[in-house]
Amino acid sequence: MKDFRGGTAVITGAASGFGRATSLALAERGMRILAADLDLPGAERTVELAARLGPGGAAYAVDVADVAAMEKFADAVKAEHGVPDLVMNNAGIAITGPFLDTSFEDWEKIIGVNLTGVVNGSRIFGRQMAERNRGLPRRERSGHIVNIASAASYTPVRSLPSYCTTKAAVRMLSECMRADLASEGIGVTCVCPGFSGTNIARNSLVAAGVPEEVAERLHRRGERALRLRGYPPSKVAARIVKAVERNEAVVSVNFEGHLAHYAARFAPSVNRLIARIPAGF
Ligand SMILES: NC(=O)c1ccc[n+]([C@@H]2O[C@H](COP(=O)([O-])OP(=O)(O)OC[C@H]3O[C@@H](n4cnc5c(N)ncnc54)[C@H](O)[C@@H]3O)[C@@H](O)[C@H]2O)c1
Repeated sequence: MKDFRGGTAVITGAASGFGRATSLALAERGMRILAADLDLPGAERTVELAARLGPGGAAYAVDVADVAAMEKFADAVKAEHGVPDLVMNNAGIAITGPFLDTSFEDWEKIIGVNLTGVVNGSRIFGRQMAERNRGLPRRERSGHIVNIASAASYTPVRSLPSYCTTKAAVRMLSECMRADLASEGIGVTCVCPGFSGTNIARNSLVAAGVPEEVAERLHRRGERALRLRGYPPSKVAARIVKAVERNEAVVSVNFEGHLAHYAARFAPSVNRLIARIPAGF
């Protein structure tokens, strides 16, 4: 996408973190923001902030893991605002804990949001974009899908088995989609950020197999670590906008994002060694 002005962007997980920051960056570029989240007041606040910078938009309460809810959401978007030009599948959660303590329910939950949520958003809105593009000359076809993975997609971490697995799956899914949807005129970008100061530790971090008070401590530690990292979501958002403009395939963001990527390519044994460092539960 070269021209954002006048376009419409659907962003999941838009109430907070990267979702809100990217909504505001795109609003500044003249896009209408359709903010979807479990947290409706948070999504409404994002739209309110976006309206100060650009043409505004609308907020929707949606669970990305629920295919029927996503179909209904997409029908509403099409009826009320037309087919979106950009879709960012960003909603995500984190579960930490040793593999043997990560329950089947934990796996179902994280796969539902982090992977099925991305499949749902990509399939349902991708189909809308492809249908709109059919019949248009190739150079006029348009649409872009951004999937948020993580630096954790490149490297194993002993205390994040379910998170790393879902993020690696999102990266591969995005590569397959990119190969497939190019002929429909739809670009696909996968973004792999390192740590950034969002609310993910407070909003969604679940510590598997540890007592309540330890989980509470881990939450606080996670929040503090992300804050101290000092990499604001607005910087990630700026990189996402640039990646969409250039139709980049896979984009690592910040120092640890690049480090994990290069180590996975050129020194995977270093990643494997770091992966063994105990999380200190
Ligand atoms: N913060 C980081 O350091 C970091 C690094 C790499 C990747 N990520 C990824 O970035 C994405 C955004 O996370 P963030 O850090 O901005 O976290 P965040 O918690 O600040 O924002 C995530 C948003 O997703 C929403 N959400 C959660 N489950 C949902 C569901 N089922 N349906 C709809 N909305 C849902 C939450 O309500 C929240 O508003 C996630 O996919 C996360 O895994 C984060």
